[in-house]
Amino acid sequence: MKVLVTGAAGFIGSTLCEKLTENNIHCVGIDKLTNYYDVSLKRSNLKSLKSNDKFSFHESDVMSEKTIGEIKNADVIFHLSAQPGVFKSWGKDFQIYVRENIEVTQFILEILKDYPEKRLVFASSSSVYGKTNTYPMREDNILRPISPYGLTKLACERLLDLYNISYGLKYLSLRFFTVFGPRQRADMAFHKFFRSVIKNEPINIYGNGEQIRDFTYVAAVVDFLYKLIDNDKWNYEVNVGGGASISVNEVLKMIFEITGKRTKVNYIADQKGDMKKTLADISLARDEFNYSPEFLLFEGLKKEWEWIQTIYKVDR
Ligand code: NAD
Ligand code: UGA
Repeated sequence: MKVLVTGAAGFIGSTLCEKLTENNIHCVGIDKLTNYYDVSLKRSNLKSLKSNDKFSFHESDVMSEKTIGEIKNADVIFHLSAQPGVFKSWGKDFQIYVRENIEVTQFILEILKDYPEKRLVFASSSSVYGKTNTYPMREDNILRPISPYGLTKLACERLLDLYNISYGLKYLSLRFFTVFGPRQRADMAFHKFFRSVIKNEPINIYGNGEQIRDFTYVAAVVDFLYKLIDNDKWNYEVNVGGGASISVNEVLKMIFEITGKRTKVNYIADQKGDMKKTLADISLARDEFNYSPEFLLFEGLKKEWEWIQTIYKVDR
């Protein structure tokens, strides 16, 4: 079984590569180490993998001649590379999202169209729901993204579907719901909040902090991905959520409890594109893919706090 992971130096990608290699699966990782957040964090994500003989790494753009052979060689491709982040996706930066999300995905699909036996797992997002109609969000809800980022993820989902119709591509589009835990991206809320506590800087909350998220612990996500190696069900869009939701204000209380410190909290203007509420209906994942996340918010936050302290070098 040959496995390829794009975005292998990132938060979810590097955690997945570790899970695969721990289970004796060889994997090839590709990542161009974009500077969207501190590149030293990505290098540190790769540190133990680099000395693992079950892992090989190409520091490269996915959309390059060099990667075509790796894509053709793989049986399963976990396509996790992307330009993430909801708020940056407005204005001039939209073109980065179009390139990194839509064009890179289309590049992979064009290679795969001659190999219908290969399988593509795509990292989609809860952002495809946007201003949706009912909660919990089911896969067949109305999809009405409210951020340009969400729109690029929806475009990718539609691309996978159309390559399935025309070329028999086997795919899964997994809609991840706000993932957290060790290695969380430096632009994401919990990482920023913990870092502010360490540096004794103010925490900025967008709007009134009553926005609600279905937070998903990273280990549940990579367990789900790992099981897909032996999966025989393809061509679905699937929610991968934690299965419960909570407000940003409630999480902030937990963060102060875990760190034992408080820092100033500023409530600032809400951000365009920020969904008011996400909550995944995970029955499809549970029934068809044997997904069973525990809602590990407090325990998961403690693990993220332990990791944050190591990267920001706090004396404990
Ligand atoms: P991340 O930014 O940590 O990882 C993505 C990696 O892709 C980065 O290391 C980046 O350098 C790399 N990359 C970007 N463009 C590339 C290109 N053209 N060629 C090679 N490498 C490239 O992000 P993450 O949080 O680990 O997210 C992984 C995937 O899951 C993304 O597709 C993201 O949109 C999706 N997702 C994440 C979340 C979340 O909560 N973290 C939620 C929903 C969806
Ligand atoms: C996250 C990821 O960043 C996206 O890449 C992903 O696609 C999306 O999840 C998803 O589930 O699809 P988001 O939910 O905005 O997006 O994740 P966080 O950055 O962790 O933000 C959580 C909440 O905290 C948001 O409501 C945000 O407004 C709020 N927040 C964030 C703040 O109040 N202050 C901050 O400094 C950062």
